[in-house]
Amino acid sequence: MTDHPAYETITVETPAEGVGVVRFNRPKALNALNAQMTGEAFTALEMFDRDPAIGCMILTGSDRAFAAGADIKEMHGKTAIDMAIHDTTDWSRLTRIGKPIIAVVSGVALGGGCEIAMTCDMIVASETALFGQPEINLGILPGAGGTQRLTHAVGKALAMEIILTDRRLTAEEALRYGLVNRVAPLETYFQEAVELAKQVASRSQVASRLAKQAVNKAFELGLADGLDYEKRLFYLLFASEDKAEGMSAFVEKRPAVWKHK
Ligand code: CAA
Repeated sequence: MTDHPAYETITVETPAEGVGVVRFNRPKALNALNAQMTGEAFTALEMFDRDPAIGCMILTGSDRAFAAGADIKEMHGKTAIDMAIHDTTDWSRLTRIGKPIIAVVSGVALGGGCEIAMTCDMIVASETALFGQPEINLGILPGAGGTQRLTHAVGKALAMEIILTDRRLTAEEALRYGLVNRVAPLETYFQEAVELAKQVASRSQVASRLAKQAVNKAFELGLADGLDYEKRLFYLLFASEDKAEGMSAFVEKRPAVWKHK
């Protein structure tokens, strides 16, 4: 495993082969997302992204809090110009990570916490998870993707209610409305997420990277352009060693041995 620097506000773990975990660790502030913690988290995710031993990442917090939102105390005295020059809630680095990321959410995922989870590729929730966008109570709106990603995930009517009235979704509601992949008991949710991450990590990293890219394009392109983009990535994978290995392994009735090339 790559040597990570000493972090102050996150921890990193590799609980299973191919799985890299980044854990928010500001418990006294319920993992409020300040510039230091998001900066460290993105650095750690980028390092896992470059590490050939890692095929899937998990971004998580504690049982009590995934993240209670952007750090209000950090934003408190800021002007519009301060934010435009140094937006401490600009988390676009996360969207440039190539390998799949699973957000594992327990407790509160509010404001930026919900937005950062939705920026990941899948969400596994504990039964105590609570999703919401309470920015309206602060006189602002969700500014890290919430108005767009939540609307894509749950539809306009519910997204409007959540954003305009601070309606919060329980884990079961989030599952019902398509925001999360699965809900598990508090005792087992993390291990279930690791099992899901292991499944992702056991495949060709070349294929999973491009598959992630293609799915994400569905949010940006119309159908014809999206299908065209998909087809180009499909053809590209026919140039990979893993495509040759995957198809040979099928024909020879044996497990594939991926080179991630
Ligand atoms: N920023 C900074 N500090 C926060 C915080 C946040 N978003 N959320 C919680 N904290 C801090 C509290 O100030 C408190 O610290 P102190 O002990 O020093 O006072 C500590 O965490 C514990 O919080 P509470 O005492 O409030 O705990 P609680 O269990 O009573 O309530 C809570 C929990 C419902 C999450 C409540 O803390 C809360 O409502 N937090 C704010 C949620 C919020 O508004 N999030 C949106 C932020 S704006 C945003 O995210 C913008 C964007 O789109 C990018």
